Amino acid sequence: MAKWKTVFVTGGAGYIGSHCIVELLDAGYDVIAIDNFANCVNDPKGEAPSLKRVEQITGKKVTFYPCDLLDKARLAKIFSEHEIDCVIHFAAMKAVGESMQVPLLYYKNNIVGTINLLEVMKDHNCYQLVFSSSCTVYGNPDTLPITEDHPTGTVTNVYGRTKYFIEEMLKDISAAEKNWNIVSLRYFNPVGAHSSGLIGEDPTKAFTNLMPYMAQVAIGNKANLTIYGGDYDTVDGTGVRDYIHVMDLASGHVAALSKLQKEHLRLKVYNLGLGTGLSVKQLVHEFEHATGTSIPICMGGRRIGDVDSLICDGTLAMHELEWKPQYDVKAMCQDFWRWQTMNPDGYRGNSTTKVNGS
Ligand code: WQD
Repeated sequence: MAKWKTVFVTGGAGYIGSHCIVELLDAGYDVIAIDNFANCVNDPKGEAPSLKRVEQITGKKVTFYPCDLLDKARLAKIFSEHEIDCVIHFAAMKAVGESMQVPLLYYKNNIVGTINLLEVMKDHNCYQLVFSSSCTVYGNPDTLPITEDHPTGTVTNVYGRTKYFIEEMLKDISAAEKNWNIVSLRYFNPVGAHSSGLIGEDPTKAFTNLMPYMAQVAIGNKANLTIYGGDYDTVDGTGVRDYIHVMDLASGHVAALSKLQKEHLRLKVYNLGLGTGLSVKQLVHEFEHATGTSIPICMGGRRIGDVDSLICDGTLAMHELEWKPQYDVKAMCQDFWRWQTMNPDGYRGNSTTKVNGS
């Protein structure tokens, strides 16, 4: 069967999208990427600094278009100008806390945007999709570690509900139309950065995720880390998560593409995580130890939408996608720290790295 050549990546300029595109290019795919820069930096020419760095890392070109999934006409025009074999759909607003404050924005952006994408795919006879889902669809899990057949839907935050509703949509369309061939990847907590230090997580909004915030404290941009809640039912009262290196997450997407080319799946769901849980305090300690930094902390109240523990059973993906995570928590911390120290102000600052044409 002819190997697919061209992959269309939504949200390609973002943290996970840009790391995934490195792996896609290294695997020999051509990449068409779009992004609306809702949560990543764009340069004055409307280009994506993160993707310029991806080109530097791989020595390959990325075809990029600024595009919002809510602009269906522009999306359809871009789609019609390329022979697209498969779509990887990252584009979404993804901050658990923020989603509780602006629910309508999250529902419109994440769900209407996905409906537009699915309709444009269908109009262009493209039914191959890898969807970026999330462990938040499991809500506050009844059992740990969490397998893919754990019930979803009892989600505690709007962000997770958008991912749950989209997965339900994917179930319905793949039941109604046999052409659909979909893998939904439920990420646990992506952290770390490419080993070059050239790309990383650089939110344009408030730093909400734990590792980027810790790194900001470590380089002195923030005074201290507030730990949201010390009374959870966990080893030390702080929230437990299953952290996975973003490059392992990226290789999981390439493995999913291979699976879709070998088998017509209709819809298959896989967890992507390591199967180990770390509390906030444990991750702070790991980060300090791995990077030789110090993170002053203070205890705060629980953050709305958070749950006690999320730990993955990732064996299904490891077996069926022949995917094996390569990086441990020390690498996650050291790789993120290299990105942060080389780029104290992310893609906006005068980084210590020279980028092609800069
Ligand atoms: C982790 C832990 C916080 C910040 C993320 C993504 C989401 C999804 C799942 C992919 C929690 C605590 C955090 C801080 C803290 N990923 N924390 N102080 O909420 O698990 O969700 O992974 O789909 O998109 O956002 O990640 O890093 O925000 O929080 O104490 O300043 O760290 O309470 O226990 P979360 P997070």
